[in-house]
Amino acid sequence: MPRATSKALALLIFLLYVGVHVDAATTTLSQGQSLVGNATLYSSNGAFLLSFFTPRGGDGSRMYLGVQYAKAVEQTVQWVANRDAPVSAAASSYSATVTESGDLQVLEGQRVVWRTGTSSSAGNFTLTVEDNGNLVLNGGSDSQAVQLWQSFDYPTDTFVPGMRITLERQNDDVVAQTLFKSWRSPDDPAPGNFTLGQDPLGSAQLYIWRSGQDGGENTTFWRSGQWANNNFVGIPWRALNLYGFQLSGDPSKSNGVMSYTFNTFNSSLYRFVLQPNGTETSFMLLDATGDWEVVWSQPSIPCHDYNVCGQNAQCSSGDHGQAVCTCLEGFEQKSEGVGCVRRAQLTCSERNVSMSSGDDFAELSGVKLPNYAAWEWTVSSADSCRRWCLANCTCDAYSYSSGTGCLTWSQELVDIYRFPTGPGPGPGEGYDLYIKVPASLLDSGSKRRRWTKVIVSVVIVVAFVLAACGFLLCKCSRRIRDKLGVGGGKKKTGASLMLHSGREAKKEFSGPSQPDHEDAENSELPLFALETLAVATGGFRESNKLGEGGFGLVYKGTLPGGEEVAVKRLSKSSGQGSEEFKNEVILISKLQHRNLVRILGCCIQGDEKMLVYEYMPNKSLDAILFDPARRGLLDWKTRLHIIEGIARGLLYLHRDSRLRVVHRDLKASNILLDRDMNPKISDFGMARIFGGDQNQENTNRVVGTLGYMSPEYAMEGLFSVRSDMYSFGILILEIITGQKNSSFHHMEGSINIVGYAWQMWNADKGEQLIDPLIRASSSASASASREALRCIHMALLCVQDHAGDRPDIPYVVLALGSDSSLLPMPRPPTFTLQCTSSDRDTFRERGDESYSACDLTVTMLQGR
Ligand SMILES: *[C@@H]1O[C@H](CO)[C@@H](O)[C@H](O)[C@H]1NC(C)=O
Ligand SMILES: *[C@@H]1O[C@H](CO)[C@@H](O)[C@H](O)[C@H]1NC(C)=O
Ligand SMILES: *[C@@H]1O[C@H](CO)[C@@H](O)[C@H](O)[C@H]1NC(C)=O
Ligand SMILES: *[C@@H]1O[C@H](CO)[C@@H](O)[C@H](O)[C@H]1NC(C)=O
Ligand SMILES: *[C@@H]1O[C@H](CO)[C@@H](O)[C@H](O)[C@H]1NC(C)=O
Ligand SMILES: *[C@@H]1O[C@H](CO)[C@@H](O)[C@H](O)[C@H]1NC(C)=O
Ligand SMILES: *[C@@H]1O[C@H](CO)[C@@H](O)[C@H](O)[C@H]1NC(C)=O
Ligand SMILES: *[C@@H]1O[C@H](CO)[C@@H](O)[C@H](O)[C@H]1NC(C)=O
Repeated sequence: MPRATSKALALLIFLLYVGVHVDAATTTLSQGQSLVGNATLYSSNGAFLLSFFTPRGGDGSRMYLGVQYAKAVEQTVQWVANRDAPVSAAASSYSATVTESGDLQVLEGQRVVWRTGTSSSAGNFTLTVEDNGNLVLNGGSDSQAVQLWQSFDYPTDTFVPGMRITLERQNDDVVAQTLFKSWRSPDDPAPGNFTLGQDPLGSAQLYIWRSGQDGGENTTFWRSGQWANNNFVGIPWRALNLYGFQLSGDPSKSNGVMSYTFNTFNSSLYRFVLQPNGTETSFMLLDATGDWEVVWSQPSIPCHDYNVCGQNAQCSSGDHGQAVCTCLEGFEQKSEGVGCVRRAQLTCSERNVSMSSGDDFAELSGVKLPNYAAWEWTVSSADSCRRWCLANCTCDAYSYSSGTGCLTWSQELVDIYRFPTGPGPGPGEGYDLYIKVPASLLDSGSKRRRWTKVIVSVVIVVAFVLAACGFLLCKCSRRIRDKLGVGGGKKKTGASLMLHSGREAKKEFSGPSQPDHEDAENSELPLFALETLAVATGGFRESNKLGEGGFGLVYKGTLPGGEEVAVKRLSKSSGQGSEEFKNEVILISKLQHRNLVRILGCCIQGDEKMLVYEYMPNKSLDAILFDPARRGLLDWKTRLHIIEGIARGLLYLHRDSRLRVVHRDLKASNILLDRDMNPKISDFGMARIFGGDQNQENTNRVVGTLGYMSPEYAMEGLFSVRSDMYSFGILILEIITGQKNSSFHHMEGSINIVGYAWQMWNADKGEQLIDPLIRASSSASASASREALRCIHMALLCVQDHAGDRPDIPYVVLALGSDSSLLPMPRPPTFTLQCTSSDRDTFRERGDESYSACDLTVTMLQGR
């Protein structure tokens, strides 16, 4: 009797549970419940959801259970359960259910198509999507919770904060490994051709493999390079380091777990994806729009493919990005097949200079180091690393840096990529490799190099003379071409200014050139005729004047096709500025980002020099921000949008563009606003390209705008990306307060905007800094004031005295979207620069007068 009752009860409970379907938006799926049809399980922060979906772009017949980004406009799938076992959309019923035994199942009707295969006696099973998108199956009571399963242990193609890329080894044998597999195609989540994971040999490198064609061998598709300086040797821009990539575990051990993790302020905004074509790309979710922005993508140049040049050769990119293979010094082309072999055997003895015998090293700088390196953990200086290699006959090459330590190679050198030289990749870019070569070959090599140097010098001189002649010639021929005008207002023109490498500008005339590509690589800049621009601007009429940029006046113009443009005409009288002109033309034609003003062309005729930009209907930020009558147009949302836009423009300049650019004159009047109030950074006349591993430059020409200048720049002429950060901090404060930095002079006994802001913020009166017009507006909300305070906090971090204390721009971009409680405390400003002259506008150095135009005083502020 009791048995029958309990059976009946169990059946009743079972029926009840089966009947309970989740159809409203909920956050927990309890055991016995099912997720049916379009029902959705949300994470508690609402950033992720679990539901059945049909891939975007597909035919809609296949349904998958997956975790998606809830805030993204386009369907974005982070994880898929039944990736190779879809349920039919036509099926009468499909569901996901948590069973009484603790198994998560995907069902089509009654048929189980996918399961976690977990079970436990803990009971009380629940399925939840955590705030970082991790799908977790828990059981047990509150006091004794058990985690049965989590999706982060079984990733698909997406790597997000909270996941690990692990390799577990025992005596060098792989015990467990995290592998990411690409989708087969953008509309098919089934495992595709590419797999990403750690090197099973334990070198801590990341690999992407391509699965064998027709069941053949797996091939290595890409290799990250060694982990050094918190970054991979083969990945430019230190992109990963900046976005919180880390390695835990010890590569020197043959046992244990090594794993890569990645942490950002807001884990629901970043993801790395192994795309169906094998490209690894990282994206950031833009909070405001729900669009994804590409932060970094594995470059798609042939040299990045694994070992394209074969053994003992280096790959460098040609003019059109093609792979150019060169044998390493001391090597020659194999008689057949790709790759190179030694021209002469090593002697296995130390070099004897007088005899020209023995072995020595040929240096190859700025490379992605070859594969299969051995770490000599005990060797800790460049010299001992070199001696170690020289003393060991099997050692073919070594590399030493503080980041990598002593690396040696004792087999053929494979997969060497020579990074582009000149203005380009940032610090940490490329390492130096020393290749062991018989000294006899080295000598002839260096003789050859000396000759090459002489020849190159001669060629450069000749080219220069030719270019000068060409320049004169062009001036005449342009007059003829000018008669044709510039058709359609589009960038169609018979001539274009070709710009090379930022050092030389050469003119080239050809037939009608191809339409411009929106391509940063494309540095062809259309030339406009003086007459065209004169007509467009109504003869540079006063009424068409838009304002005054650095070194000249800016006019509004209308091209024959009706396109509105802004024309900056360099003042002829100054004689100065031609350097800045060239600088700007070269720089800006290579930079393209939606938060940078776009250049459409230029004009050089006689002593006239002009730049043609896209027209910005809302003029510059200062014209609206500092105009009491118009300032009200900028509500808080717009101001935040402007701050974020400037930050993204700076991110591009400092990190993401091919060049690494310090703007040096960031200020309100150099921020232009388009029709939709999107900010665009302009005026690159003083910007500098930072090359190689340069972090800071010293100039005896301090140019810029007082009030925006960082202490180290104004006083010592030191500038770096961190001096731009200082200017950016000032700009944020101006945008929030609606006041010019100079107008704080007399406020509340404070010295300047920095001191004032810090005093107010530190006294918990930060809200009083916010423009009264924002505070008064009806739309102002608690969230607006919270956001504004966060911006003030960030600004105070940016204006810290010591450049090293200031955050860099990737940090700022990330942190602006996060909770301010996570930000560090800014240090109080201790000294500030002050201009005692009434005119504190832009000043530019002419000899030594720069400081006399405006007396600088240094004031110590009282910290509280
Ligand atoms: C879910 O499906 C039902 C019936 O097919 C439909 O009425 C409902 O609007 C859908 N809900 C959502 C959020 O799509
Ligand atoms: C787990 O289930 C038992 C009974 O099945 C119940 O008494 C207990 O409260 C549950 N625990 C939790 C945390 O829900
Ligand atoms: C994957 O490999 C197969 C077989 O080689 C090929 O047919 C297919 O096009 C590849 N898919 C992609 C996305 O490259
Ligand atoms: C290719 O590599 C992947 C990942 O290491 C492995 O799962 C697969 O079995 C390999 N395939 C072949 C044909 O070797
Ligand atoms: C791979 O696909 C992505 C996204 O479709 C694309 O941006 C990228 O250029 C592709 N890469 C290659 C090498 O085709
Ligand atoms: C170089 O070779 C010469 C002749 O064999 C020998 O006298 C000299 O000691 C050698 N020098 C070194 C540094 O080994
Ligand atoms: C020389 O290098 C090889 C390969 O790295 C290593 O096995 C050997 O122990 C080294 N010999 C000496 C004397 O260090
Ligand atoms: C992180 O981003 C998500 C999605 O935009 C947002 O809902 C959430 O509030 C953010 N979290 C924090 C801590 O800023």
